[in-house]
Amino acid sequence: MAANTGAATIVALGSINMDLVATMERMPADGETVEGNAFFTAPGGKGANQAVAAARLGAHVRMVGRVGDDTFGRALLDGLRAHGIGVRDVAVDAAHASGVAMIMVDEAGQNRIVAVYGANMACDGAQLDAAKRAMAGADALMLQLETPPEISLAAARHARGEGLRVIWDPAPAALMPDDAFEFADVLTPNQTEAAMLTGIEVRDVDSARAAAGALLARGVRLAVVKMGEDGVFAASASESRYMPAFAVEAVDSVAAGDAFGAGLAIALSEGLALEDALRFGAAAGALAVTKPGAQDAMPSRAEVEGLIGGVG
Ligand code: RIB
Repeated sequence: MAANTGAATIVALGSINMDLVATMERMPADGETVEGNAFFTAPGGKGANQAVAAARLGAHVRMVGRVGDDTFGRALLDGLRAHGIGVRDVAVDAAHASGVAMIMVDEAGQNRIVAVYGANMACDGAQLDAAKRAMAGADALMLQLETPPEISLAAARHARGEGLRVIWDPAPAALMPDDAFEFADVLTPNQTEAAMLTGIEVRDVDSARAAAGALLARGVRLAVVKMGEDGVFAASASESRYMPAFAVEAVDSVAAGDAFGAGLAIALSEGLALEDALRFGAAAGALAVTKPGAQDAMPSRAEVEGLIGGVG
Protein backbone atom coordinates (compact mmCIF):
# COMPACT_ATOMS: atom_id res chain seq x y z
CA MET A 1 0.00 0.00 0.00
CA ALA A 2 1.31 3.50 -0.80
CA ALA A 3 2.67 5.47 2.16
CA ASN A 4 -0.01 7.40 4.00
CA THR A 5 1.53 10.83 3.37
CA GLY A 6 -1.49 12.85 2.24
CA ALA A 7 -4.29 12.44 -0.23
CA ALA A 8 -5.28 8.86 -1.02
CA THR A 9 -4.97 7.54 -4.55
CA ILE A 10 -8.00 5.56 -5.64
CA VAL A 11 -8.60 3.49 -8.76
CA ALA A 12 -12.28 3.21 -9.70
CA LEU A 13 -13.00 0.36 -12.12
CA GLY A 14 -16.66 0.47 -13.00
CA SER A 15 -19.69 1.90 -14.68
CA ILE A 16 -20.16 5.30 -16.26
CA ASN A 17 -23.81 6.07 -17.10
CA MET A 18 -25.89 9.00 -18.18
CA ASP A 19 -28.84 9.20 -15.79
CA LEU A 20 -32.23 10.20 -17.22
CA VAL A 21 -34.10 11.37 -14.15
CA ALA A 22 -37.81 12.09 -13.70
CA THR A 23 -39.12 13.41 -10.39
CA MET A 24 -42.72 12.85 -9.33
CA GLU A 25 -45.01 13.01 -6.36
CA ARG A 26 -45.35 9.23 -6.25
CA MET A 27 -44.23 6.29 -8.39
CA PRO A 28 -46.72 4.96 -10.96
CA ALA A 29 -48.34 1.59 -10.22
CA ASP A 30 -48.37 -1.19 -12.86
CA GLY A 31 -50.09 0.08 -15.99
CA GLU A 32 -50.50 3.58 -14.56
CA THR A 33 -49.24 6.91 -15.92
CA VAL A 34 -48.46 9.70 -13.47
CA GLU A 35 -47.51 13.26 -14.28
CA GLY A 36 -43.91 14.06 -13.38
CA ASN A 37 -42.62 17.29 -11.89
CA ALA A 38 -39.27 17.59 -13.65
CA PHE A 39 -36.85 15.83 -15.95
CA PHE A 40 -33.10 16.20 -16.23
CA THR A 41 -30.08 14.30 -17.49
CA ALA A 42 -27.09 14.05 -15.16
CA PRO A 43 -23.87 12.03 -15.05
CA GLY A 44 -24.06 8.82 -13.03
CA GLY A 45 -23.04 5.18 -12.96
CA LYS A 46 -21.94 3.59 -9.73
CA GLY A 47 -18.26 3.49 -10.68
CA ALA A 48 -18.12 7.08 -11.89
CA ASN A 49 -20.21 8.26 -8.94
CA GLN A 50 -17.70 6.72 -6.56
CA ALA A 51 -14.86 8.28 -8.55
CA VAL A 52 -16.42 11.75 -8.34
CA ALA A 53 -17.24 11.34 -4.66
CA ALA A 54 -13.65 10.33 -3.93
CA ALA A 55 -12.30 13.30 -5.91
CA ARG A 56 -14.64 15.72 -4.10
CA LEU A 57 -13.38 14.27 -0.82
CA GLY A 58 -9.78 15.03 -1.76
CA ALA A 59 -8.44 11.83 -3.31
CA HIS A 60 -6.42 11.47 -6.51
CA VAL A 61 -8.67 9.33 -8.70
CA ARG A 62 -8.02 7.23 -11.78
CA MET A 63 -11.12 5.98 -13.60
CA VAL A 64 -11.13 2.78 -15.66
CA GLY A 65 -14.12 1.83 -17.81
CA ARG A 66 -15.86 2.31 -21.14
CA VAL A 67 -18.23 4.83 -22.68
CA GLY A 68 -19.81 4.86 -26.12
CA ASP A 69 -18.61 7.03 -29.01
CA ASP A 70 -21.68 9.25 -28.62
CA THR A 71 -22.95 12.48 -27.12
CA PHE A 72 -23.48 10.95 -23.68
CA GLY A 73 -20.01 9.40 -23.70
CA ARG A 74 -18.34 12.71 -24.51
CA ALA A 75 -20.34 14.55 -21.85
CA LEU A 76 -19.52 11.88 -19.26
CA LEU A 77 -15.80 12.09 -19.98
CA ASP A 78 -15.89 15.90 -19.82
CA GLY A 79 -17.64 15.69 -16.47
CA LEU A 80 -15.04 13.35 -15.01
CA ARG A 81 -12.21 15.56 -16.29
CA ALA A 82 -13.85 18.60 -14.73
CA HIS A 83 -13.55 16.86 -11.36
CA GLY A 84 -9.84 16.34 -11.95
CA ILE A 85 -10.26 12.59 -12.48
CA GLY A 86 -7.78 10.81 -14.72
CA VAL A 87 -9.68 9.37 -17.69
CA ARG A 88 -6.77 8.08 -19.76
CA ASP A 89 -8.01 4.56 -19.00
CA VAL A 90 -11.62 5.13 -20.02
CA ALA A 91 -12.00 3.60 -23.49
CA VAL A 92 -14.34 5.03 -26.10
CA ASP A 93 -16.22 2.08 -27.58
CA ALA A 94 -17.39 2.47 -31.18
CA ALA A 95 -19.50 -0.71 -31.03
CA HIS A 96 -21.64 -0.01 -27.95
CA ALA A 97 -23.69 2.95 -26.78
CA SER A 98 -22.91 4.65 -23.48
CA GLY A 99 -24.66 3.19 -20.45
CA VAL A 100 -27.87 4.91 -19.39
CA ALA A 101 -30.03 4.68 -16.29
CA MET A 102 -33.69 5.70 -16.23
CA ILE A 103 -34.44 6.89 -12.73
CA MET A 104 -37.72 7.77 -11.04
CA VAL A 105 -37.49 9.80 -7.82
CA ASP A 106 -40.57 10.38 -5.68
CA GLU A 107 -41.39 13.16 -3.22
CA ALA A 108 -39.82 11.22 -0.33
CA GLY A 109 -36.52 11.02 -2.25
CA GLN A 110 -36.89 7.27 -2.88
CA ASN A 111 -35.84 5.97 -6.29
CA ARG A 112 -36.36 3.17 -8.79
CA ILE A 113 -33.80 2.59 -11.53
CA VAL A 114 -33.63 0.71 -14.82
CA ALA A 115 -30.08 0.65 -16.16
CA VAL A 116 -29.04 -0.34 -19.69
CA TYR A 117 -25.32 -0.84 -19.36
CA GLY A 118 -24.19 -0.70 -23.01
CA ALA A 119 -20.44 -0.08 -23.21
CA ASN A 120 -19.96 -0.75 -19.48
CA MET A 121 -20.64 -4.46 -19.93
CA ALA A 122 -18.17 -4.60 -22.84
CA CYS A 123 -15.27 -3.98 -20.44
CA ASP A 124 -12.73 -6.72 -21.11
CA GLY A 125 -9.05 -7.58 -20.89
CA ALA A 126 -8.13 -4.10 -22.13
CA GLN A 127 -9.78 -2.55 -19.06
CA LEU A 128 -8.16 -5.17 -16.84
CA ASP A 129 -4.73 -4.26 -18.21
CA ALA A 130 -5.52 -0.58 -17.81
CA ALA A 131 -6.66 -1.15 -14.23
CA LYS A 132 -3.47 -3.02 -13.43
CA ARG A 133 -1.41 -0.10 -14.76
CA ALA A 134 -3.54 2.40 -12.89
CA MET A 135 -3.07 0.51 -9.63
CA ALA A 136 0.67 1.22 -9.52
CA GLY A 137 1.28 3.25 -6.37
CA ALA A 138 -2.44 3.51 -5.52
CA ASP A 139 -4.03 2.85 -2.12
CA ALA A 140 -7.39 1.34 -2.99
CA LEU A 141 -9.43 -0.22 -5.77
CA MET A 142 -13.16 0.45 -5.85
CA LEU A 143 -15.45 -2.04 -7.61
CA GLN A 144 -19.20 -2.51 -8.09
CA LEU A 145 -21.34 -4.88 -10.19
CA GLU A 146 -22.26 -2.78 -13.25
CA THR A 147 -19.30 -4.03 -15.30
CA PRO A 148 -18.37 -7.69 -15.99
CA PRO A 149 -17.70 -9.35 -12.62
CA GLU A 150 -14.92 -11.56 -13.96
CA ILE A 151 -12.89 -8.48 -14.93
CA SER A 152 -13.49 -6.98 -11.48
CA LEU A 153 -12.44 -10.23 -9.83
CA ALA A 154 -9.21 -10.39 -11.86
CA ALA A 155 -8.52 -6.76 -10.92
CA ALA A 156 -9.20 -7.55 -7.26
CA ARG A 157 -6.74 -10.45 -7.35
CA HIS A 158 -4.10 -8.13 -8.81
CA ALA A 159 -4.90 -5.50 -6.18
CA ARG A 160 -4.39 -8.06 -3.40
CA GLY A 161 -0.98 -8.92 -4.85
CA GLU A 162 -0.05 -5.23 -5.02
CA GLY A 163 -1.22 -4.45 -1.50
CA LEU A 164 -4.18 -2.23 -2.44
CA ARG A 165 -7.31 -2.36 -0.34
CA VAL A 166 -10.29 -3.60 -2.40
CA ILE A 167 -13.60 -1.94 -1.57
CA TRP A 168 -16.34 -3.80 -3.41
CA ASP A 169 -19.90 -2.53 -3.50
CA PRO A 170 -22.02 -5.53 -4.65
CA ALA A 171 -24.54 -3.26 -6.34
CA PRO A 172 -26.96 -3.60 -7.95
CA ALA A 173 -28.10 -6.79 -6.23
CA ALA A 174 -26.68 -9.73 -8.14
CA LEU A 175 -24.77 -12.86 -7.33
CA MET A 176 -20.99 -12.47 -7.16
CA PRO A 177 -18.45 -15.02 -8.36
CA ASP A 178 -17.69 -17.41 -5.46
CA ASP A 179 -14.01 -16.44 -5.46
CA ALA A 180 -14.82 -12.75 -5.20
CA PHE A 181 -15.55 -12.74 -1.47
CA GLU A 182 -12.00 -13.70 -0.58
CA PHE A 183 -10.62 -10.73 -2.52
CA ALA A 184 -13.01 -8.17 -1.09
CA ASP A 185 -11.14 -6.47 1.74
CA VAL A 186 -14.30 -4.47 2.31
CA LEU A 187 -17.75 -5.50 1.00
CA THR A 188 -20.55 -2.94 1.35
CA PRO A 189 -23.96 -4.47 0.52
CA ASN A 190 -27.23 -2.74 1.30
CA GLN A 191 -30.07 -4.76 2.81
CA THR A 192 -31.29 -6.15 -0.52
CA GLU A 193 -27.79 -7.07 -1.65
CA ALA A 194 -26.92 -8.62 1.71
CA ALA A 195 -30.05 -10.78 1.52
CA MET A 196 -29.18 -11.89 -2.01
CA LEU A 197 -25.61 -12.78 -1.05
CA THR A 198 -26.35 -14.49 2.27
CA GLY A 199 -30.00 -15.55 2.23
CA ILE A 200 -30.45 -13.56 5.47
CA GLU A 201 -33.16 -10.91 5.41
CA VAL A 202 -31.71 -7.76 6.97
CA ARG A 203 -34.32 -5.89 9.06
CA ASP A 204 -32.32 -4.58 12.00
CA VAL A 205 -28.89 -4.58 13.62
CA ASP A 206 -29.15 -8.21 14.76
CA SER A 207 -29.95 -9.50 11.29
CA ALA A 208 -27.26 -7.20 9.82
CA ARG A 209 -24.81 -8.77 12.27
CA ALA A 210 -25.85 -12.24 11.10
CA ALA A 211 -25.46 -11.25 7.42
CA ALA A 212 -22.06 -9.70 8.11
CA GLY A 213 -21.01 -12.90 9.87
CA ALA A 214 -22.04 -14.95 6.85
CA LEU A 215 -19.98 -12.69 4.57
CA LEU A 216 -16.93 -12.97 6.84
CA ALA A 217 -17.30 -16.76 6.72
CA ARG A 218 -17.09 -16.56 2.92
CA GLY A 219 -13.78 -14.70 3.10
CA VAL A 220 -14.66 -11.01 3.23
CA ARG A 221 -12.32 -9.16 5.60
CA LEU A 222 -14.64 -6.31 6.57
CA ALA A 223 -18.38 -6.64 5.92
CA VAL A 224 -20.32 -3.37 6.02
CA VAL A 225 -24.10 -3.76 5.81
CA LYS A 226 -25.86 -0.53 4.84
CA MET A 227 -29.39 -0.02 6.13
CA GLY A 228 -30.20 3.43 4.74
CA GLU A 229 -31.69 5.68 7.39
CA ASP A 230 -31.22 2.88 9.94
CA GLY A 231 -27.43 3.22 9.74
CA VAL A 232 -24.66 0.73 8.97
CA PHE A 233 -23.31 -2.32 10.76
CA ALA A 234 -19.71 -3.39 10.15
CA ALA A 235 -17.80 -6.45 11.29
CA SER A 236 -14.35 -7.91 10.78
CA ALA A 237 -12.72 -10.89 12.50
CA SER A 238 -11.56 -8.64 15.33
CA GLU A 239 -14.22 -5.94 15.82
CA SER A 240 -17.75 -4.86 15.06
CA ARG A 241 -19.38 -1.43 15.04
CA TYR A 242 -22.82 0.04 14.50
CA MET A 243 -23.01 3.59 13.12
CA PRO A 244 -26.38 5.37 13.06
CA ALA A 245 -27.26 7.48 10.05
CA PHE A 246 -27.03 11.27 10.14
CA ALA A 247 -30.48 12.86 10.11
CA VAL A 248 -30.86 14.96 6.96
CA GLU A 249 -33.72 16.14 4.79
CA ALA A 250 -34.00 13.62 1.95
CA VAL A 251 -34.31 15.07 -1.54
CA ASP A 252 -32.93 12.27 -3.69
CA SER A 253 -31.37 9.06 -2.39
CA VAL A 254 -29.71 8.16 -5.72
CA ALA A 255 -25.98 7.44 -5.26
CA ALA A 256 -26.00 7.74 -1.47
CA GLY A 257 -24.39 4.29 -1.32
CA ASP A 258 -21.75 5.39 -3.82
CA ALA A 259 -20.89 8.41 -1.66
CA PHE A 260 -20.73 6.21 1.44
CA GLY A 261 -18.38 3.74 -0.25
CA ALA A 262 -16.04 6.47 -1.47
CA GLY A 263 -15.97 8.12 1.94
CA LEU A 264 -15.22 4.81 3.63
CA ALA A 265 -12.47 4.02 1.10
CA ILE A 266 -10.75 7.34 1.65
CA ALA A 267 -11.02 7.26 5.40
CA LEU A 268 -9.59 3.74 5.59
CA SER A 269 -6.84 4.71 3.14
CA GLU A 270 -5.97 7.63 5.38
CA GLY A 271 -5.62 5.24 8.32
CA LEU A 272 -8.74 6.19 10.28
CA ALA A 273 -10.05 3.68 12.81
CA LEU A 274 -13.12 1.71 11.74
CA GLU A 275 -15.58 3.78 13.76
CA ASP A 276 -14.24 7.07 12.39
CA ALA A 277 -14.14 5.68 8.85
CA LEU A 278 -17.77 4.55 9.11
CA ARG A 279 -18.75 8.00 10.39
CA PHE A 280 -16.93 9.69 7.50
CA GLY A 281 -18.67 7.40 4.98
CA ALA A 282 -22.04 7.87 6.66
CA ALA A 283 -21.68 11.65 6.53
CA ALA A 284 -20.79 11.53 2.82
CA GLY A 285 -23.78 9.27 2.14
CA ALA A 286 -26.16 11.47 4.12
CA LEU A 287 -25.08 14.64 2.35
CA ALA A 288 -25.54 13.00 -1.06
CA VAL A 289 -29.21 12.50 -0.18
CA THR A 290 -29.77 16.23 0.33
CA LYS A 291 -29.23 17.17 -3.34
CA PRO A 292 -30.67 15.95 -6.64
CA GLY A 293 -28.64 13.83 -9.05
CA ALA A 294 -25.77 11.40 -8.58
CA GLN A 295 -22.36 12.93 -9.26
CA ASP A 296 -23.81 16.42 -8.87
CA ALA A 297 -24.86 15.53 -5.32
CA MET A 298 -21.46 14.39 -4.07
CA PRO A 299 -20.32 16.42 -1.05
CA SER A 300 -17.00 18.17 -0.62
CA ARG A 301 -14.62 17.24 2.15
CA ALA A 302 -15.46 20.47 3.98
CA GLU A 303 -19.17 19.59 3.92
CA VAL A 304 -18.48 16.12 5.32
CA GLU A 305 -16.22 17.44 8.06
CA GLY A 306 -18.78 20.14 8.81
CA LEU A 307 -21.55 17.58 9.27
CA ILE A 308 -19.37 15.41 11.49
CA GLY A 309 -18.18 18.40 13.51
CA GLY A 310 -21.70 19.75 13.85
CA VAL A 311 -22.95 16.50 15.33
CA GLY A 312 -19.91 15.47 17.30
O1 RIB B 1 -25.95 4.25 -7.59
C1 RIB B 1 -26.65 5.13 -8.43
C2 RIB B 1 -26.39 4.84 -9.88
O2 RIB B 1 -26.95 3.61 -10.23
C3 RIB B 1 -27.00 5.85 -10.82
O3 RIB B 1 -26.17 6.97 -11.04
C4 RIB B 1 -27.30 5.04 -12.06
O4 RIB B 1 -26.47 5.35 -13.13
C5 RIB B 1 -27.15 3.58 -11.63
O5 RIB B 1 -26.06 3.01 -12.18
